[in-house]
This record gives sequence, structure tokens and C-alpha cells, in this order.
Amino acid sequence: MTTTPVGIHDLSFATTHYALDHAVLAERLGVDRDKFYLGIGQERMSVAAADEDIVTIAAAAAQPILQRHGTDNIRTVLLATETGVDQSKAAALYLHSLIGLPNAARVVELKQACYGGTAGLAFAAGLIARDPSQRVLVIAADIAKYELDTPGEPTQGAAAVAMLVTADPAILALDPISGLYSADIMDFWRPNYRSEAIVDGKTSVNAYQKAAQEAWSDYRRQGGRELGEFAAFCYHQPFTKMAYKAHRHLLESQGHTAEAADLEAAIGATTTYNRTVGNSYTASLYLGLASLLDHADDLTGKALAMISYGSGSVAEFFSGTVRPGYRAHLRTEANQAAISSREMLDYDHYRALHEAVLPTDGAYHAMPEETRRPFRLGAMSGHKRIYEAR
Ligand code: COA
Repeated sequence: MTTTPVGIHDLSFATTHYALDHAVLAERLGVDRDKFYLGIGQERMSVAAADEDIVTIAAAAAQPILQRHGTDNIRTVLLATETGVDQSKAAALYLHSLIGLPNAARVVELKQACYGGTAGLAFAAGLIARDPSQRVLVIAADIAKYELDTPGEPTQGAAAVAMLVTADPAILALDPISGLYSADIMDFWRPNYRSEAIVDGKTSVNAYQKAAQEAWSDYRRQGGRELGEFAAFCYHQPFTKMAYKAHRHLLESQGHTAEAADLEAAIGATTTYNRTVGNSYTASLYLGLASLLDHADDLTGKALAMISYGSGSVAEFFSGTVRPGYRAHLRTEANQAAISSREMLDYDHYRALHEAVLPTDGAYHAMPEETRRPFRLGAMSGHKRIYEAR
């Protein structure tokens, strides 16, 4: 077993062309906008254009990483999603022609609700421990979609996060210890015949809190750090208030009081991006990490807690140490530009996008040209998705 640190060497984020302000949704649903802005902690959510899907946003997230680091020794590409475009072909295979992934690589898609990206990171760390000369590209990409006029609707969103995982990483060295918890529970699922997820919201909030606590207990049993050692706690954020709820639950379960100021210090900086991007399922935790790194004061040498949850359910509590000089490797400006450049939707346009269904007849259908992002779904033809760079 090598002792070389393994972790996140680069992290890049992309989101969709459109966004919807929660004030627009609140007006339509006849509720106070503060239910969303304050109650669930969401102000806007990213919405996919008609010519975007998880492949186009995954490609946009991963391209800057390949441009900066090349493809040498990237022998594994793991793409986690729960909104995949095909039941058989791994979505990342489309990225070969879009961004030039190497052919001498294994390319696999991972699924376990919002937890999948963390599985990718763990598998990547294992591969690199076996051979530290190898690098693994991990991509988490999702478009969260719930039925219109349901409680889940304000917790939609979309994003992709790509991470280059290597030995001697520039940003975050992962601790080798993880706490795990899995159980069979129906809190959120999407049968193959549905395009929107089904969620039992209150059950999922409770299941998340219990799973996070159980994963923490396992982390401690495995010899993990103490709560007081962490500079920040980065949680999966289906909506940003969930991170606060889960952290309060964790602190109280360990006999601590959870003062509002302490919660804010532990969580606040992780929520800036998620608050305006919405739920990005597998990407959400890593968008929280990007937000923390981009907004917190110098974190050099500090320990971070990472808490991943995927309904169904699997949770993992893991940790890492921020590397010296990490700030020079961040993509803060590009991350903020991805968010600020979104085009705001009115309600009718949002609804039309939500209700649109892709053709299934196998004939040629050109997709409307909407997105100004680097990649788009140009057409459907012969039951194939035809992608193009813009
Ligand atoms: N001003 C401020 N806060 C307000 C408010 C107002 N005008 N109106 C309501 N709120 C608060 C509520 O008090 C509640 O806060 P609390 O959770 O701290 O008690 C919060 O807003 C949400 O209100 P609630 O009535 O519980 O919302 P809801 O029944 O519409 O459902 C979810 C909220 C999160 C359960 C729902 O959006 C959902 O199902 N989302 C998808 C599931 C999900 O994301 N699960 C997470 C685990 S993966």
C-alpha cells in the first residue's frame, strides 16, 4: 500500500444555459417567495435548454481539465449520474469525440442516486493507490427534474463537476478512512419508464439525517478524525437548508449544541453556488466543495469533512486536507461566470422546456438551437444522440 497522498488535483464546474428564479415559481404556485429563499434556502435553479443534457454539461465541465493537464495517464474515466441518456452505453463515451478523451482508458457510468460521484472518487483513489502514475477523471453530472406543481419542483437544478484525481494532488488530499452506511429505503427513485423522479420528501429528509449520522459513527469506528478537527463540513445539498438540518442533527446526536453562528461557520461557504444552481444530484456535494474553496478564507492545511448521501440509500462520511498553494489551482472566475451567464427564464418558457419530450420514433429531428454553452445536442437520428461543439 502506498503512502503517497491521493486526491483532487483539479476541479471544474459547468451548468446549463437557463435558470429560473424561485420568485417566479413562488408567484405561480401562490406561495411566499421566502418559503424558497429562506425556508429551503434556494434562490434560483439551473434549467436545461432543449439542446442540453448531461453529456453536454459533462463535456463542458471536463474540457478545461483536459486543456490544462492533457490526457496522459488518464486510464480511467468514471461518470456518475442518475439522469443518464442510455441504459447501456456509458455517457462519457460521447466525450471521446467532443473533448478528446484518450482511447487507452476504461470508461464506465456509475449510478446510486446522488451518491454516485462519491463512489467514483473512492474507486479512483483505489486505482491510484495501486499505481500512482495513473490519473482518473471523475465526472458527476445531473439534471434534477421533479413533476410540475409538486413539493419537489423548487428543488430542481442542474450541474456537472469534473475532477482530476491523482497522486500528490494540488487541491485536496483525501484521508484513507471513510465511514459508510447503506440501507434499503424508498425515499426517492425513478422507475425506468419515468423522466421525473418520485420523492417522499419528508422521508428523504429524515433518511438523509439518519444515514449521515450512521456514516459518521462508522467513520469514527474506522479511526477517523474528531468533529472539532474540521474547518468546514461539506454536505450533499438537495436544497441548501438540508446541509444545515443535517449538521444540526449530527451535532446534537453527539451531545453538542448547534448555535446558528456555529452552523453558519461550518456550512455557510459551501452553499453559495448550490443556492443558485439548485440540486445537481451527484454533482451537488462537489459543487459545495467548489463553493467552499472559492469563498472561504485560506484553508491551507485545514481538514474538511465531506458528507455524501444518495437516496435509496448510501451515505459516506469522508475527509481530506487542503493542500498548500491550492488557491492557484482553483477556477473561481470560470465558476462564477458559468453561473452569472445563465439566461433567466419566464414561467411559460420554463414550463414548455419541462413538458417537452424527446422524439422516440427514430427519425431525424434537429434540436432547437438554444444553448450558448460549448456543446449541444444537435439532433436525434436513428435513435442516436448527435452531439456537436458550438
Ligand atoms: N418564510 C420562511 N420559511 C418558510 C416560509 C416562509 N414564508 N414558508 C415555509 N417556510 C419553511 C418551513 O417552515 C420549512 O422549514 P423547516 O424545514 O425548517 O421546518 C421549509 O420552509 C419548507 O417548508 P415545507 O412546508 O416543509 O415544504 P414542502 O412540504 O413544500 O417540502 C421538501 C419541502 C424539501 C420536503 C420538498 O421540497 C421536497 O420534497 N424536495 C425534494 C426532496 C429532497 O430534496 N430531499 C432531500 C433528501 S435527498
